[in-house]
Amino acid sequence: RDEPLVIFTPSGRRGRVPAGITVLEAARRLGVDLESVCGGRGICSRCQVVPGRGAFAKHGVQVEEDALSPRNEVEARYDRLRGLAEGRRLGCQARIQGDLVVDVPPESQLHRQVIRKSATERAMAMDPAVRAFHVAVAAAGLDEMGGDFQRLRQALESQWGIGGLRAEPVLLARIQGVLRAADWAVTAVVHDEGAGPPLLVDLLAGLPEGPLCGLAIDLGSTTIAGHLVALDDGRVLASCGIMNPQIRFGEDLMSRVSHAMMNPGGAAEMTQAVRAGLGGLVEALAREAGVDPRRICDAVLVGNPVMHHLLLGIDPVELGQAPFAAATTDALSLPAREVGLDIAPSARLYMLPIIAGHVGADAAAVVLAEAPQSSDRPVLIVDVGTNAEIILGDRTRVLACSSPTGPAFEGAQISCGQRAAPGAIERVRIDPLTKEPRFRVIGVAPWSDEPGFAEAIRGVGITGICGSGIIEGVAEMRMAGLLDASGLIGSAEQTGSPRCLPQGRTQAYLLHGGDPEGGPQITVTQGDIRAIQLAKSALYAGARLLMDEFGIDSLDRVVLAGAFGAHVSPLHALVLGMIPDCPPERVTSAGNAAGTGARMALCSRAARREIEAEVRRIIRVETALAPRFQEHFVAANAIPHATDDHASLRGT
Ligand code: FES
Repeated sequence: RDEPLVIFTPSGRRGRVPAGITVLEAARRLGVDLESVCGGRGICSRCQVVPGRGAFAKHGVQVEEDALSPRNEVEARYDRLRGLAEGRRLGCQARIQGDLVVDVPPESQLHRQVIRKSATERAMAMDPAVRAFHVAVAAAGLDEMGGDFQRLRQALESQWGIGGLRAEPVLLARIQGVLRAADWAVTAVVHDEGAGPPLLVDLLAGLPEGPLCGLAIDLGSTTIAGHLVALDDGRVLASCGIMNPQIRFGEDLMSRVSHAMMNPGGAAEMTQAVRAGLGGLVEALAREAGVDPRRICDAVLVGNPVMHHLLLGIDPVELGQAPFAAATTDALSLPAREVGLDIAPSARLYMLPIIAGHVGADAAAVVLAEAPQSSDRPVLIVDVGTNAEIILGDRTRVLACSSPTGPAFEGAQISCGQRAAPGAIERVRIDPLTKEPRFRVIGVAPWSDEPGFAEAIRGVGITGICGSGIIEGVAEMRMAGLLDASGLIGSAEQTGSPRCLPQGRTQAYLLHGGDPEGGPQITVTQGDIRAIQLAKSALYAGARLLMDEFGIDSLDRVVLAGAFGAHVSPLHALVLGMIPDCPPERVTSAGNAAGTGARMALCSRAARREIEAEVRRIIRVETALAPRFQEHFVAANAIPHATDDHASLRGT
């Protein structure tokens, strides 16, 4: 056999190829992922490879010094200008002359595996919907037929095998200028979702500087969180969170739906507000990463159904009343500019599918990130906002429901409650012997009993208690014996704590007695405890209902998602009875799983297809219609919950 044997690592792909072809060409023939933006012109440097030398016993190959052609002028020039790392060659320039083992380093792999930080996060291969292709377009001339766009489309087809390119008028208006300014050598940024013809997203003169990037947005009712992501390896270039400007129309989802119901034009006002907010977020992200917003060429957004509808300009009224019908539940791909995103001219916005009228695309993103459908044992995933979204599933099936917890977990309906913002008490510990509290305030590092607290709190002040603070506070009060199982706060005589103060016919626990600068007293009242009991009973009952439907009566894994998971300790969640019993070490926090899911959909078309198929399979359970929900709800009123009642319930 005269043809040289080529072995690519780490893929292990091998084969004989004609002598004299380039490494890039050999990679294409053997189906090896080797990146190229310039199509082998020696200008993009994305095709770098590391040729091996010597004997490769494992492969039974001896690689000679001259297995590759010597550096040509293109490589030498590139090396002079930018410097090729030691031992590297440009795959599109180096020609194969003998048997060869050649390594494709991660940054030259097109679909490189992104290894995630934690064991629970899934590994994922990069496969974004947008890619850049450098093309040389035939110059216009008297004997050239067809328009400039037709010649660009033809070049893309002949040089990259991409046929049927479409372009929207916004780009057709630019094509002629860019082609001439770039002397007919341009980079086409192409969006290809895998279904339908590819779309021209942008046309750049020359090569793009740095990787293409995209946006992943988690549109929450309180906060909008965004990541700017590099689409070559999925790394986060910038992250930013802003308050949802719709807050001025109502703190929680239901009050926003009622704003839409009660005020003509109310929905449109909220649509405008959130779109303006997104605009600000994009600017902030681009500024932080030092990227021109116009270079952002793809976007993915997740959100609950009300946020999803309002962003799209759909009146959310139907979501506020039974049977909670969404206008559409499918995944959507639309021009990003349609929702006011001022990014690359023809960039698309992909929105994940909605699971049900109450269970949104944010929950779908959590499913994508946590993959309960690949778990051997049932896993319960809980994401708490104004509504709790609850998912229970394993390999066999996945169930989902939402439960109306109300906004108490976010600090609303609490006498001293406030949003999580500087000045809010976010963590609480109560000494079981002395019944004295210590706490931590957002924006202040030391705990209230640590040195430096008095100085650090100056200028911030203690303004209230946020959701995680009240959850921990109530759980700590129960553990310290300040609260009985029915949720009643004991008097000073009963508890031995002078912090238990009469308040009308009930008691309140004084968490913080105000400060010399006139800050408010922070107390936990009997009314606060009742609000938390209602919220946690709804959450617990939703989870129990799914367990009934699933046919299990115990859990061995619980994932707390969202801000809730990030701020509430598993122990406190269990003490309060927010979730069914489970060994504390098996309750984990998934951080912002919805944001992770959005990033995965941004980086991978396969992830988009996966979640679309998975959402179609998810079994929706309607809590409002289930009589057992009410039974579980009543039984869950106790703190942590009435276990015996549950044993008897299960028997019924
Ligand atoms: Fe662009 Fe080799 S493919 S430099």
